[in-house]
Amino acid sequence: MRTVYIETYGCQMNLADTELLLGHLGRSGFRRTNDPAVADVILVNTCAIREHAEERVVGRLGDLVRHKTRRPHVQLGVTGCMAQHLRDTVMTTLPFVDFIVGPDAYRRLPELLGDPTGDPFVDVRLDRTETYADIAPEREGGVRGWVTIMRGCDKFCTFCIVPYVRGRERSVPADAVIAQVRQLAADGYREVVYLGQTVNAYRDGDVDFAELLRRTDAIDGIERIRFTSPHPSDMTERVIEAMATCPKICPQLHLPVQSGSDRVLARMERGYSVATYLDLVDRLRGAVRGIALTTDVIVGFPGEEEADFVATCDLMRAVGYDAAFMFKYSARIGTKAGKWPETVPDEEKHARLQAVIALQEAQSAARNRTLIGSTVEVLVEGPARRRDGWMVGKTRHFKTAVFPSDGRRLGDLVQARVTDATAHTLVSAAL
Ligand code: 5AD
Ligand code: SF4
Repeated sequence: MRTVYIETYGCQMNLADTELLLGHLGRSGFRRTNDPAVADVILVNTCAIREHAEERVVGRLGDLVRHKTRRPHVQLGVTGCMAQHLRDTVMTTLPFVDFIVGPDAYRRLPELLGDPTGDPFVDVRLDRTETYADIAPEREGGVRGWVTIMRGCDKFCTFCIVPYVRGRERSVPADAVIAQVRQLAADGYREVVYLGQTVNAYRDGDVDFAELLRRTDAIDGIERIRFTSPHPSDMTERVIEAMATCPKICPQLHLPVQSGSDRVLARMERGYSVATYLDLVDRLRGAVRGIALTTDVIVGFPGEEEADFVATCDLMRAVGYDAAFMFKYSARIGTKAGKWPETVPDEEKHARLQAVIALQEAQSAARNRTLIGSTVEVLVEGPARRRDGWMVGKTRHFKTAVFPSDGRRLGDLVQARVTDATAHTLVSAAL
């Protein structure tokens, strides 16, 4: 039996694609290994969202090639977004790469790998209909199962490479989604997280995202439902209502804002203004009491002036996010903004990034401290990393909580009293 080793970079969607690849290859006779030194096939599932992500992969491929030097039959390949984005560069600058397979061509991978002595191959065709609905993933295990419900993106924000590397938006048929969630429940998973580049744009005939959430809420065995990432413009009243009324949908939302300046948002072609975003936040908070909000922010977008940056900080303060992912703008070849001159020098981008990180750290810590003394429900994920004899899990608001284990096991739902809090962790005592 041939063995396959996969390393994954980038977002949750890529991790889910790795599980898909493992499931698909598994049924074609490949066995997974966690050791590249014994693998017959080495895959690097890549991300193209920022230049830094691509640089890391190039470095890692340079490392992994040593397995081929020692064992020449090894096939080393690049899958995922970077395969799509930089196929020519990879082929010319990394000639030892045996194959390059984009996100819509995984179905053919076992067949392409069939002949280990064969020529290098590239398959980066995008496919408007591929959803892999019939391919069962080989999951990591644990309490949380990720289910990709839509692929691709049609939004074309001017900074973003995703629509080019993952192609057009398409949804997995609702029956297939529900069947996967039932299977998760049967396999002992307690939480489902729906994934999609614009997950709330989901639609299969009459079944929109709100309806899919309602159907999921009715599945026995699943205790918690989350989804990521929704686009603010697709956040309909129906979805908000589903969040407010379905008990299993967690009071937590990652709602990428990107910038707090209308001028920048318009140049990003995000499709909303600061006012409409803030109105959405108000409606969410009105409907789902205590909802935790997180976001993505980009600093140093072409044309971002000091006043725009200040507006972003103001918006972050106005919303009071529970957490944020913050990035320096990285120009991507092929995107609209990628052709625009960069106006913010790297040192300035760096300074702005440090400033928003400091702002958010303080806000996260302050928000978490308000929870001290309260009771939270924690779904136990396993042993805590840095504290012997402690367990870690997530609260319904998706906050990380640690507590003394006291015989609690993976998958238990534990009531815990918060005794201390940092920007990233709630320290608690199980009740
Ligand atoms: N530069 C920096 N950050 C980016 N993101 C997407 N494209 C870029 C880019 N070119 C960020 C956005 C998005 C998150 C997944 O990555 O904030 O929401
Ligand atoms: Fe990229 Fe915008 Fe699509 Fe998100 S919505 S994946 S940022 S193009």
